[in-house]
Amino acid sequence: MSATIIDGRAVAQRVTEEVRIEVAEHVAAGHTAPGLAVVHVGDDAASQIYVRNKRRTTEAAGMRSFAFDLPASASEAQLLALIDRLNADPAVNAILVQLPLPKQIDAEHVIERIDPKKDVDGFHPYNVGRLVLKMPVLRPCTPWGCMRLLRETGVDLVGKHAVVIGQSNIVGRPMAMELLMARCTVTICHSATRDLPGLVRQADIVVAGIGKPKFVQGAWLQPGAIVIDVGINRLPDGKLCGDVDFDSAIEVAGWITPVPGGVGPMTIATLLANALCAARWQQEA
Ligand code: GUN
Repeated sequence: MSATIIDGRAVAQRVTEEVRIEVAEHVAAGHTAPGLAVVHVGDDAASQIYVRNKRRTTEAAGMRSFAFDLPASASEAQLLALIDRLNADPAVNAILVQLPLPKQIDAEHVIERIDPKKDVDGFHPYNVGRLVLKMPVLRPCTPWGCMRLLRETGVDLVGKHAVVIGQSNIVGRPMAMELLMARCTVTICHSATRDLPGLVRQADIVVAGIGKPKFVQGAWLQPGAIVIDVGINRLPDGKLCGDVDFDSAIEVAGWITPVPGGVGPMTIATLLANALCAARWQQEA
């Protein structure tokens, strides 16, 4: 058996086009185009690529992109002052601070400083709380993008056992909440979990977000499982790979997302949808 590949690029293109049309309608209704500020601190090469893609796609969707690049030596006070300025700027509807941040800056302080209505990542405790309470507005982009990819399979998610590998604030935890809201039975696994392969074998849906190249083996999977690979790892030869061993997993899974071309493009498409959502939320006030 060979799994069906879930084409994240194609789905992301459709979502981006939907957002572009909605932005045009928003502007035709007399509003200014939503503005997304992407803040990058430091010179991490991978982050630079993600940030560049986010800025480029924002403009392609008809939104305004505001770029702020701070040096790796920037202080927490400098970054907080920038966020205060962006919070107060009516042209900026959405603020994204690319993570990770240099070690002299506490990411929690930064996230809490962002106006929750401009928190396009959905990382502010207010927005996380809303997600946990089943009343999300701005929800973390990667997990929400993964939900869209899961729905692409056409499989009814209700009652399915979903195993989430990883418990990060960006992926694992919000992913578990999204799956729970879709009425899956959810198991969250992390580095202290016992018998991970045994748990993965019980999964109808596996979401891997741990940052370990090719970690999840095809032999662990239940035949026909849906595999969503959130990992983006660079191998010594420069090639990208996910957290799932794609070559063995494709032989067992029913559906699988590739790396690159799976979750990555969806995260950016979902970010654009969130930026429009933020602009609309601010109008309601
Ligand atoms: N770094 C890795 N993923 C993300 C994300 O979704 N948002 C932000 N702000 N930084 C990230």
